[in-house]
Amino acid sequence: MQRIFSGIQPSGVPQLGNYLGAIRNWVNLQANYECIFCLVDMHAITVWQDPEKLREHTLTQAAILLAAGIDADKHILFNQSAVSAHARLAWIFNCVARIGWLNRMTQFKDKAGKDRENHSAGLYVYPNLMAADILAYKATHVPVGEDQKQHLELTNDIAQKFNHDYKVEFFPQVEPLIPPTAARIMSLRDGTKKMSKSDPSAQSRIELTDDADAIALKIRRAKTDSAPLPEDIVGLADRPEAKNLVSIYAALADISAEQVLKQHAGQGFGPFKAALTEIVVNAIAPIGLETTRLLQDKSYLLKTLHSGAQRAQSIAEPIVSEAEKLVGFLK
Ligand code: TYM
Repeated sequence: MQRIFSGIQPSGVPQLGNYLGAIRNWVNLQANYECIFCLVDMHAITVWQDPEKLREHTLTQAAILLAAGIDADKHILFNQSAVSAHARLAWIFNCVARIGWLNRMTQFKDKAGKDRENHSAGLYVYPNLMAADILAYKATHVPVGEDQKQHLELTNDIAQKFNHDYKVEFFPQVEPLIPPTAARIMSLRDGTKKMSKSDPSAQSRIELTDDADAIALKIRRAKTDSAPLPEDIVGLADRPEAKNLVSIYAALADISAEQVLKQHAGQGFGPFKAALTEIVVNAIAPIGLETTRLLQDKSYLLKTLHSGAQRAQSIAEPIVSEAEKLVGFLK
């Protein structure tokens, strides 16, 4: 069976973009792949995290993933820092990846902005750690949202250069699995900005723990324009906020954006937002309720993560030990 690896940063509560771009896909892929899902706490600290909050978000995310349908018995769910193989392989990859490759990473440029000199060195080498996450398991398929595509191309460059430099066929090439709709969900306050769990405005995103009232309020307040919905997607071209709400509807109803417009063309945002609220609440609110229940038993969550880390370790250890041998470390 082919192996999947994917990760999410415990830097906040997962939002609708994480769900549609990644988590929902993870749940469905469990039927056909051997899956390893990781709470990437080492990636999270590339920007400042309050230690208590990081611990809290890691546990909450574990609960959310289980509530959303991740099966931690059949598959593996763990937190990254619990398996030291990630850091060891990341160091080797720091020495394989070229500075020029990292300079091209758009996510670093977006996050660091103009104040590049004052960001952590960890943020700069973030994609090397991501390559290590995946290749420590020789995973071949990686379900992610659109924003991670460039990082996966870098992962393939690193694998190729490692194989070339050490004259081996050791690391595989990886294939991104990006959903056809909703690969990039935008902020509810600004249709040109990605929805993000670290955006300072909680109104910009729907969190997976939001209840029905919170979801309804956020959708009611979502930025829109005053024109009614158009007949076809060409009519959405210069209307990023409208396009985003239509994409969310399409992804959750499992229909195309064209079909959504067929059903709602000519409608103003009042009735469309009401229909959207219903569909979002039906998908998200049950996850929040189950998360609350799971969070009452923290020792169960800790045990689940611990068992996942042990199983992850037993896969990664021989692979990373072999990579260390290949580079010439005395064993
Ligand atoms: P993170 O925590 O930013 O996001 C987790 C997943 O959610 C997707 N995503 C989105 N999809 C659609 N619309 C959005 N607005 C949106 N926001 C986030 C992301 O594409 C991602 O799939 N670097 C990764 C974590 C990571 C990882 C890995 C992923 C670390 N190691 C190895 C895959 C394989 C990240 O920042 O995730």
